[in-house]
Parts: sequence; structure tokens; C-alpha cells
Amino acid sequence: MDLIDGIMTLRAIRRFTAEPVTDEEVLTCLRAARQAPSGGNIQPWQFLVVRDADLRRGLGDIYRRAYDRYEPAMLAATPPFRDDAEAERHRRTVASARYLAEHLHEAPVIVLFLMPNISMTLHDAEGPLDVGTPWASVYPAVQNFMLAARALGIGTTLTTVIRVYQDEVRALLGIPDRYELAALVPMGRPRGKFGVAPRKPLAAVTHWDRFGNRRDDIG
Ligand SMILES: Cc1cc2nc3c(=O)[nH]c(=O)nc-3n(C[C@H](O)[C@H](O)[C@H](O)COP(=O)(O)O)c2cc1C
Repeated sequence: MDLIDGIMTLRAIRRFTAEPVTDEEVLTCLRAARQAPSGGNIQPWQFLVVRDADLRRGLGDIYRRAYDRYEPAMLAATPPFRDDAEAERHRRTVASARYLAEHLHEAPVIVLFLMPNISMTLHDAEGPLDVGTPWASVYPAVQNFMLAARALGIGTTLTTVIRVYQDEVRALLGIPDRYELAALVPMGRPRGKFGVAPRKPLAAVTHWDRFGNRRDDIG
């Protein structure tokens, strides 16, 4: 499919059919992930592909308990909505996220993106050099993975809420302590449809030459 179409219609898919995802499809997505940029080309990631039904149930249980704590905390921290349309969009996102929390194990494949807990801060004679967070070197791989899945007609969602109990995930899957769980991505054929998701207008978030110079004609 056309790359721009794929990017534009990549959105969070949280309801999956029972149709299997093949190893070849998973590998295609992992090869795309592996091509992602990383700081100094360190390629820090480890990918953990979970297919086993008991392990998916185990992950689903941990995920739901994490989400049960996250949802009320998130709702309490959500600022008032500007209008009814915004409130409705938020209600739908929460309902969809809640659905995933209760059905994660139904995704035929769950992929974990792991990041070693290393400091990448360099120092020179003047002190530490802040060249950005090491986590920036793993999320492009996650996005590449999800885009490749999109091209294959497979839905995904980038999730992180399970980090609340990531020690339990380490114990379940034998992940060494030195790895952080950067993302958990369920994948499967969507029950709904891909489509262009609503976003803020470009004009509200884009500046030209100097911060504050905006153009209203860009949509
Ligand atoms: C860093 C990050 C963490 C996220 N964590 C979760 C999560 O734990 N659970 C979940 O259901 N969605 C999670 N999401 C998905 C977002 O809710 C989703 O990308 C956003 O609502 C836009 O969805 P849309 O593209 O369908 O409009 C996360 C997304 C990002 C980028």
C-alpha cells in the first residue's frame, strides 16, 4: 500500500478477530522495526514475541490489573473538555482502552519491546551532555513495527500501562531485571476498520521560522 496512506490510517486497534497472525507476518514487522533509527545506531532493543495462550492470559491478567489502577487516576487528572465532541471522543477512547484491558489475551500475538536500563549520558570536561532520552531510541522501532503491520492489514496498539506491574511481567516471561518494558503491542486482524483518526489542526501546533508565527491556511 501507499506509504502515506498507511501512515494516515494507522490508528489504535484494540478489538481483534480470532484469525491467526503467521510467523512470517510477525517477522516482516520485526524486520521493519529493526530498520528504525537509534542514537549512535546502538539498536538497543530486544523483541519478545508472545504466542503461547497461557502466557497471553498471564499478560492479560497483569495488564487488566494495571489498567484498573490507571483508568480512575487518568480520569481524575483529565482537564475539562472544550465541547461535547471532545468529551465524546475521549469517552470512546476510554471505552476502547477498557475493552483491550479486558480482552488483551485474545490478540493472537503480543510483542514486547524491551530496552536495557543503561545510561547513555556522555560527559566531557564541562559536565554531562544532554543529547536526549535513551527511550527515544526504541519508539521509532515500535512505530515501524506498527506501520509494517498496517501494511499487512494487521491492527496494533502501542501500550505502556502494564509497566505499573512490569516486575510481574519480568517474572512471567523470564526477562532479566536490566531490561525495561518500553512497549507492549498486541497484534491481530481488526474487528473494526482502519481510518484517519481525528487530530488537532496543524495550524494549532506548527510555527514558521519563529515560535508563535502561525498560518491559519494549513488545516
Ligand atoms: C506512549 C504511549 C502509551 C500508550 N499506552 C496505551 C495503553 O497503555 N493502553 C492503550 O489502550 N492505549 C495506549 N496508547 C494508545 C493511545 O491511546 C492512542 O495512540 C491514542 O489514543 C490515539 O489513538 P488513535 O490513533 O486511534 O486516534 C498509548 C500510546 C502511546 C504513544
